[in-house]
Amino acid sequence: MLVIVNNYMCEKIIVSETYQDLYSQSINQPEQFWADAAQAISWSKPWDKVLDDSNIPYYRWFKGAKLNTCYNAVDRHVEDGIGDQTAIIYDSPVTDTKQKISFSELQQQVAKMAGAMANCGVVKGDRVVIYMPMIPQTLVGMLACARLGAIHSVVFGGFAANELATRIDDAKPKVVLSASCGIEPNRIVAYKPLLDDAIDIATHKPDHTIICQRPQLIADMTAGRDLDWQQASDAAQPHPCVEVEATDPLYILYTSGTTGQPKGVVRDNGGHAVALAWSMKHIYNVKPGEVFWAASDVGWVVGHSFICYGPLINGSTTVLFEGKPIGTPDAGTFWRVIEEYQVKSFFTAPTAFRAIKGIDPDGDFIKKYDLSCLSALYLAGERCDPATLTWAQDKLQVPVIDHWWQTETGWPVAANLLGSCPAPVKAGSPSRPVPGYEVEVVDPSGEKVATGESGMIVIKLPLPPGTLPTLWQNDQRYFDAYLSQIDGYYLTGDAGYIDEDNYLWIMNRIDDVINVAGHRLSTGRLEEALSNHPSVAEAAVIGVKDDLKGELPLGLVVLSSDCTLDHREVQKQLIKQVRDEVGPVAAFKLIAVVDKLPKTRSGKILRATMKNIANGDEYGIPATIEDASVLDSIESALHDMGYAQ
Ligand code: COA
Ligand code: AMP
Repeated sequence: MLVIVNNYMCEKIIVSETYQDLYSQSINQPEQFWADAAQAISWSKPWDKVLDDSNIPYYRWFKGAKLNTCYNAVDRHVEDGIGDQTAIIYDSPVTDTKQKISFSELQQQVAKMAGAMANCGVVKGDRVVIYMPMIPQTLVGMLACARLGAIHSVVFGGFAANELATRIDDAKPKVVLSASCGIEPNRIVAYKPLLDDAIDIATHKPDHTIICQRPQLIADMTAGRDLDWQQASDAAQPHPCVEVEATDPLYILYTSGTTGQPKGVVRDNGGHAVALAWSMKHIYNVKPGEVFWAASDVGWVVGHSFICYGPLINGSTTVLFEGKPIGTPDAGTFWRVIEEYQVKSFFTAPTAFRAIKGIDPDGDFIKKYDLSCLSALYLAGERCDPATLTWAQDKLQVPVIDHWWQTETGWPVAANLLGSCPAPVKAGSPSRPVPGYEVEVVDPSGEKVATGESGMIVIKLPLPPGTLPTLWQNDQRYFDAYLSQIDGYYLTGDAGYIDEDNYLWIMNRIDDVINVAGHRLSTGRLEEALSNHPSVAEAAVIGVKDDLKGELPLGLVVLSSDCTLDHREVQKQLIKQVRDEVGPVAAFKLIAVVDKLPKTRSGKILRATMKNIANGDEYGIPATIEDASVLDSIESALHDMGYAQ
């Protein structure tokens, strides 16, 4: 039995052996472990095989089983007699709206919306792109796709038309669901013109769009193609749940890779439902009937798993919050929601807490509310700095659980299992591997490194249920990006180490992906947007440290010899260019105009070296550098911007 001093409230906690038992069983008898977990799900046909390993390295879970994810998230709860229980609480300080939707009401709305899409010709296996704000209709749209066996692909509202077009061309949707607008604290975002532009840019043209008209802004409609959400839904017959294979895709979610072309992460139906039901109980410690709140956005994986599917499959109530941690109207908005709806477990990104702490360092807003209902706070999306974690613990007086996962995995890889075997918190670590994930740290040759030594974090195959089986219609890219580097392992793209208590420490990415306010961005995509400007000869984007957002993108550009524009004008145009091409979510505002970029003799830009310089970290001059003096001019340019201190 292991005894560790808990740094939370300085108590001695005895770690039970349950974690070891649970974890060992998941690794040594995975089929038994996941077959047991699968009892939480209603299947219309049982599986022939729990784990299909007939096509290594492409594994499939619950082969031969049939189910419907929407049935599991909605209909079965109505059949079980909890139809009157609240399924969704919609709280929107930006529109001054509060609404509760019961499971029975949700079932009616989803069935009608599924009928409306069926009237547009959507059938099992068709794709539907969803480009919508944080309103209940977005969840209705996702569940309606699941009901039909159609595959949804939600695109975050902060992306620009070009990014939406790229996703439309890859997913080739029959229908796009959208809304007239989204509401940001400082402006109304007209979604429909962005969607129209995206459809113009894309090669693939959807047959129809179904638009939810919000009273804040009424969108212009294209006759014949665009349908009104309410009218289409009113006119439709309720559609029943369509049985699908456990291995059929439920959704595609695009995420940033190292290139400008996003990766279409595929999620299956069966493994996903099992993994989320397991997580709600063992990680988030939430029972049916209790209230769970993930303050994220449905455009991200957190929103898919823990605003929409996880809580609903579990028969819990989910909170859909359309607002920000600060400014809507103040830094007490999170605490108001927790008290008002008796939230038991709350999940958000560390950046949200840094924003609150910046405005309310003494936690005065927290003191105004009775938060006795809250049992734990979960943080993910980026590394949680110990100062933020400690502040949250002190002010909220509940365990603060940093947990680590990715769009690809769909649910946590490392977490403190508060629901079954809580462990001491170590600030800065997302705790130990979750059952099902055999996490190792290796060197570039694939050799396991010693305890406490840093390296690439990999996960032994097969990955557990709920994780990506492949990339959309691209097994080869899935293999090349994740499986080809270390035989028999999935490459997470993160680096870090495992300590003597088996706790993981996630330190940085090994690729050109940066994390801005918990949002994952490809520096390659930002460089592409900069290079599209006629005045730019060459561009490199690096992530620089930021107290609020964790990281911010900073562009270093070399101007073309015929550029006659003043530097300030170029910078203004480039900021606009990235915002128009990639979207406001990139938060791209920092540009240094330089004479030359540092490169190796073979022409590779030394981004990591520039990042270290910018962040004031130690750096060595690579032996392969073409001209070391370039680093001095980069340092001086970054210094002038307040970096490289
Ligand atoms: N539709 C359109 N635009 C959007 C958008 C959406 N759904 N979401 C964000 N944007 C815009 C914002 O309006 C902002 O635009 P601006 O440059 O005109 O101000 C820009 O994208 C950047 O947004 P954001 O990252 O939200 O920054 P912010 O400065 O507005 O707010 C925080 C800062 C910390 C409050 C905010 O980042 C936050 O709440 N973070 C939590 C992150 C989170 O939940 N991550 C999910 C992973 S779990
Ligand atoms: P996304 O796919 O957008 O969810 O981003 C996943 C990436 O965010 C991971 O690969 C990590 O780099 C980072 N990340 C997420 N959660 C954590 C965490 N708890 N600690 C450190 N990094 C995290």
